[in-house]
Amino acid sequence: MFPSFIFVGLAISIASGGQTLNTCNLAPKGSPYFPRNFSFGVATSAYQVEGGWNSDGKGPSIWDDFTHNNPHLIDDSSNGDISADSYHRFDQDLAALKELKVDHYRFSISWPRIFPNGDISSRNQKGIDYYNDVIDKLLLNGIEPMATMFHYDLPSEIQKIGGFANALIIEKFVIYATELFEQFGDRVKLWMTFNEPLIYCKSSFADARYPPQVDLSGVADYICVDNTIKAHAAAYQVYRSQFYDRQKGKIGIALDSYFYFPMPNETESVYRALQFNMGFLAHPIFHKSGDYPDIMLKEIESNSLREGRLTSRLPPLKGYWKNIVRHSADFFALNYYSSRYLRRAEKPKGMNPSWERDMDCDEIVDPSWMQAVGSWLHCVPEGLEGMLKFIRDEYDNIEVIITENGWSDKGTLEDDNRIQYIKSHLQAVLNAINDGSNISGYTYWSLIDNFEWKSGYSVKFGLYAVDLMSPKRERSPKKSAYYYKEVIKSRKIPNHINEFS
Ligand code: NOJ
Repeated sequence: MFPSFIFVGLAISIASGGQTLNTCNLAPKGSPYFPRNFSFGVATSAYQVEGGWNSDGKGPSIWDDFTHNNPHLIDDSSNGDISADSYHRFDQDLAALKELKVDHYRFSISWPRIFPNGDISSRNQKGIDYYNDVIDKLLLNGIEPMATMFHYDLPSEIQKIGGFANALIIEKFVIYATELFEQFGDRVKLWMTFNEPLIYCKSSFADARYPPQVDLSGVADYICVDNTIKAHAAAYQVYRSQFYDRQKGKIGIALDSYFYFPMPNETESVYRALQFNMGFLAHPIFHKSGDYPDIMLKEIESNSLREGRLTSRLPPLKGYWKNIVRHSADFFALNYYSSRYLRRAEKPKGMNPSWERDMDCDEIVDPSWMQAVGSWLHCVPEGLEGMLKFIRDEYDNIEVIITENGWSDKGTLEDDNRIQYIKSHLQAVLNAINDGSNISGYTYWSLIDNFEWKSGYSVKFGLYAVDLMSPKRERSPKKSAYYYKEVIKSRKIPNHINEFS
C-alpha cells in the first residue's frame, strides 16, 4: 500500500552507522499494565468488509467502478461486491467482537449507502437503518462505536465532477457529515472524518494506482490534500457549532506515516521526511501555525518557481481556512504500520514534479527486518514508539488513539508472526505511555480478513479468517485472536505467545 524504495544489502552499513533496530522485539520500560481506562479495539472499513455493493439502494462508489471495469488491476481480479458480507452478516462480526471483549469498534460508513449519488437529495433510509442497527448492537454489548466518515469509497457521481480535485467536495462532505451527526451523533461519540488522506491523494491523483487513476503528481495530489483538510475543518466547525453542546463527541482524522530512522549524519533529513509525511496533514491541524510545515511550503514554492510556474503547487493556508483548520481535531488518530531508514536522496527522486521529488529523500529497508506479505510492511516497533514521541513533542502531547496497526500474511490460523507484531507494537505503546505520552487507545487492523484494495484477498490482516468459499462467510478465530483477547482481559502484554492456541 505504501510507496517504498527498497535498497537491499544495506544491513551492515545501517547497523554500523545508524541506530540498530531489533527485529520485531522491544524491551519493556516501566509498568507492565495499560492504564485502567485504556481502550482496546479492532477496525474495518465499509468497502473492505460490507459487500452488498448494490443492496437496498446503495449507489456505486469509485471502488465499485474501478474493480468492475479493471479486474486485471487487482492482484486476484477480485472486488468488494460481497467480501465478508458484513452488510448482511454483521451479527457474525458482533459475535467476534464480543468474543474478544473489545472496548471499541472502528468501522466506516459508506457515503454511497447514505447518499447513493453523493447528494442529500438521494438520501437512502435503508442505508441509515443499517448503521443504526450496527451502532445499537455495539452499544447494547458495551462496545464503543468509532465511526470513520470516509474510507476511500467516494460516490461515483462526486468523482464525475472531479472528486477531491474539485473544491466542491468541501461542501458535499460537510452536508454528508452533517447528516451523519444528525442521524448517529446521539450515540456515536468518536468520529474520524477521513482515513489516510495522504495515501488516497497520492494513490488516486499522483501515481494513478487507485481510482480515479489521475496521474498529475505534485499538483493534483496536493490539491486533494488541501481540499481534504478544508473539508475536515469545515465539518469540525459544523460539529462544534451545531452539535457539540448536545452530543459531546470528539472528532479526529486518521493520519498515517512511516517513522524514519537516520542513516549516519542524516538527522535533519529525518525531520524533513516526517514533515513531508505525517506533518503534511498533522501540522496544519495540530500545530499552532495552522499551516503546512514550513519546510514543505518553502521547498515546494522554490521548486514551483524553478519549474517556471507563477505560484506554488502547494500554496499556504490563509485567513478563514487557516483559522478553522488550526486545532480542528480533539484527538490524534494514528495509523502506524512500519518504518524506514532515511537519507537525503543521492539522485533526483520520482517524477518531475512530484511529492517524492519535493521531499528528496531515499527510504531504505533493512533486509533483516521481519517482512509481512506485501513489500511495504516490515515489523519495526521502535518506529511506533518514535512516532508517538514525535507526536507528543510536536503537537503538545495531544491525546492519541492508535486507530490502525496490523500485520499481513497469507491467512494461516497459526499466525505467530502476527502475534509477534502485536506484542512488540503494544510494548511500544506501553513504553510511550510510561514515558509520558497521552495515549488512550489501540486498534488492531483488522477484525476480519477483508478486501485489501489492489491486493484483493491475496493478503490477510484479520484476527479472524473469513471463509470466502462459503455463502455464509463463516468467521474463524486465528491464534492471534486468542492472544489479543488475553491482552484485553489482562490489560497487559502476555509474555509467552505459545500458550494461546
Ligand atoms: C490502511 C488502510 O486504512 C486500510 O484500508 C488498509 O487495509 C490497511 N492500512 C492495510 O493496508
